[in-house]
Amino acid sequence: RTLRIGLIPGDGIGKEVIPAGRRILEALPASLKLKFDFVDLKAGFESFEQTGSALPDATVDVLRNECQGALFGAVSSPTHAVKGYSSPIVALRKRLDLYANVRPVKTVLNAAKPIDMVIVRENTEDLYVKQETTRDTPEGKVAEAIKRISEKASFRIAAMAGDIALRRQKIRESSPSIHSKPLVTITHKSNVLSQTDGLFRTVSKQALSDPKYASVAIEEQIVDSMVYKLFRQPEDYDVIVAPNLYGDILSDGAAALVGSLGLVPSANVGEGFAIGEPCHGSAPDIQGKNIANPIATLRSAALMLEFLEEPEAAAKIYAAVDANLEEGKLLSPDLGGKATTDEVVEDILRRL
Ligand code: NAI
Ligand code: MG
Repeated sequence: RTLRIGLIPGDGIGKEVIPAGRRILEALPASLKLKFDFVDLKAGFESFEQTGSALPDATVDVLRNECQGALFGAVSSPTHAVKGYSSPIVALRKRLDLYANVRPVKTVLNAAKPIDMVIVRENTEDLYVKQETTRDTPEGKVAEAIKRISEKASFRIAAMAGDIALRRQKIRESSPSIHSKPLVTITHKSNVLSQTDGLFRTVSKQALSDPKYASVAIEEQIVDSMVYKLFRQPEDYDVIVAPNLYGDILSDGAAALVGSLGLVPSANVGEGFAIGEPCHGSAPDIQGKNIANPIATLRSAALMLEFLEEPEAAAKIYAAVDANLEEGKLLSPDLGGKATTDEVVEDILRRL
């Protein structure tokens, strides 16, 4: 099988870590019978300055018409508003209907407090439909925002969480893990928002009551106590599913549990299409120094492969990365090491 993969480095260290992602995909063993056909694509602030567009139509067209997946680096966003500029990743999620944002947060097994969870965030609705209004009243301005929750979006995100739980269970059959049983935790605030979050809760439970998820334990957790437990007992969690806003906050919070942004991958997933994207930004403070940690991107490449139905290839990348971290000899500066980006990549390629 040959997968056509778009490479979108973007800005800053995106240009250093996306080539690393390409190298790891090219280095996968031939026995997997998996080939890649890469296409370089533009997006980001530099693209905006050069072409007038942060997300050129050509990029979207090639992704939509030719590619099965993509790797997206990072983009710089100016701190002041620039006319005509808006974030390309938000637009891409919308234009390609990438309805799920998936963020695994994992330590190595020999960590003092090992954790291994995935946060599955609904990516298309909730307060992020950005339908806000402001009106003047005798008491001053009042601003309001629409929080939209639909049956369709809630159902498909919960089903995805269930599918991920099953897949993780399967992977555990052949590799050691801190979890013995798959668990999906549905997060909401339906005690206060009984209609919107209430609908998310009801439909999620319904989706996960499908007999194919019979082996998966289902629990629910109100979002504020979820934050408390996530920080006190992160090892308890396997798969967490949440509406857009809570998922955004939980996933950034969870990333803090593993030490460096340079370790945390994500994927934006739609029907038959996935974009792997490291969680970090363009890191202008370290760009051009060959010290960016490539691991978030390598894991994002693996995550993309999981959603393109290539779990074996993904598992090989995860194992090579874990072996590098467990040995702890060739680590980048964000992890307290002295290795360059290239040295980390080469160590991981050797293990692959
Ligand atoms: P950032 O994630 O770029 O950097 C935060 C800190 O983490 C910096 O000290 C940086 O050196 C370090 N860091 C990040 N990734 C690293 C890696 N792979 N290896 C080693 N150290 C790493 O966030 P910041 O500084 O808030 O934003 C910088 C630019 O990135 C801004 O223009 C911002 O808008 C953009 N950004 C883009 C994102 C995206 O494309 N998804 C996400 C977050 C920020
Ligand atoms: Mg965020």
